[in-house]
This record gives sequence, structure tokens and C-alpha cells, in this order.
Amino acid sequence: MERRDFIKKSVLTALGTAVAGTGLMQAFNHINGPKTEKMKITVLTGSPRANGNSACLAEQFIKGAQEKGHEIYRFDCAFKHIEPCRACNRCGMNGTCIFDDDFLELRPKLIEADMVVFASPMYHFGVSAQMKRVIDRFYAINGQIKGAPKKAAFLMTYADTAAREAEPMLVHYRTLMDYLGWTNVGEVVASGVWTAGSVWNTDYPQQAYRLGKSL
Ligand SMILES: Cc1cc2nc3c(=O)[nH]c(=O)nc-3n(C[C@H](O)[C@H](O)[C@H](O)COP(=O)(O)O)c2cc1C
Repeated sequence: MERRDFIKKSVLTALGTAVAGTGLMQAFNHINGPKTEKMKITVLTGSPRANGNSACLAEQFIKGAQEKGHEIYRFDCAFKHIEPCRACNRCGMNGTCIFDDDFLELRPKLIEADMVVFASPMYHFGVSAQMKRVIDRFYAINGQIKGAPKKAAFLMTYADTAAREAEPMLVHYRTLMDYLGWTNVGEVVASGVWTAGSVWNTDYPQQAYRLGKSL
């Protein structure tokens, strides 16, 4: 290296260190926006209440994620025609399902998604049956989604306030993520919300928004 190049390089390195040290680097990142890969995010909602609490969390998450430029596909499980898995095993866990229903629309959106979000109310300590039907249909695409490098998040709402009561849903979600090999990037657990829309009186919508915005 020429002496002049060496001096130039040293000055630039020193300048870079000084900038990083003063926090200016963070300011630059803020202005330009931190580098994020644009993701395809599939959001599954599980409540039959279109303006309910979990739908609110899903909307706020979507708002934050869209502001970061991510592409959202939303599938409202309770408003779709989804047959429950019959365990016929025709799909062989990696093939065509016997049912010709709305899962056909969701199927490619799950396979190609970089991230999948589950937003469900608590129904007797589990996710809603509407969402569970959809999860069970993952069986037919198991070979294509298991082990795929996907991110995931979980948004849940329930009326009671005991943290212990949220555990079965959280254990289910985390165990499913472990099985699929997807990375859990966040959970919003909204307790104490019973009537539709009551979650607006809490900080949980903000938490969901921040989670979406953090991606
Ligand atoms: C069938 C059913 C079962 C429920 N089970 C529970 C429960 O086990 N624990 C609880 O705290 N709340 C329970 N709830 C209340 C809901 O979880 C709560 O109202 C939630 O905020 C609804 O979300 P949503 O507005 O998105 O539908 C239940 C509600 C229904 C309709």
C-alpha cells in the first residue's frame, strides 16, 4: 500500500470510529432507515369478531410492518371455508389435499412467506377452533414448510388476567415453532380484554404496532 493510501485509509477509519462513537452512525441509520430485507408476511387471524381484540392487534402489527415496506397477505380463518383435516393421509404430509376449499388460496402464501403471524383469541385456553382448523391443514404442506427459514409471531387476547392461563397457548405456539424450525420474533399477550374493541383501552395495540415496525 502506498503511504498516501495508508494515511487516507487511517483517516477514514478514525473518522468512522469517531462517528460511531458519537452516535452519529445511529442518526444516519435513522435517516436512511436501518437496512431491512423486504419480507412476505402472512397474517392468520382466528376470531369470528371482525372488529374484535385480536383483529385489532393484527391490524396494528400490519400497520407497523407495512410502514417498514413489508408485503402483507392476511387470511381471516373464521371467514373462510376450511374443512378440518380428516387424517386420510392422501397428501402424505407433502402433497395434494382431498379438500377443494379456501386452504388452496392460503397454501402458496404459507409456503412462500418469510414470516407467519398468528393472531387468535383464547377459547378455553387454546387458539380458536377456526385457527386450529387452519393449523391442522399445515399437515399437507409439512414437507414444504418444516425446516424452512421462516420467522413467526404470536398475538393473543383473553378476558382473564392470570398470566398462568396464557401458558397453554404460548406452549402450543412455541412447541409448534420448535417443530417447524421457525424463529419466534415476538409475542403480544393481551389479557383482561373481553368485549370486542376493549383492547383499544390498553397498551397492547401499541405493542403489536411496535413489533411490526421492528422487523
Ligand atoms: C368460546 C369462547 C371461549 C373463551 N374462552 C376463554 C378462556 O378460556 N379464558 C379467557 O380468559 N377468555 C375466554 N374467552 C374470552 C375471549 O378470549 C376474549 O373475549 C377475547 O378478547 C376475544 O378476542 P376477539 O375479540 O379477538 O374475539 C372466550 C370467549 C369465547 C367466545
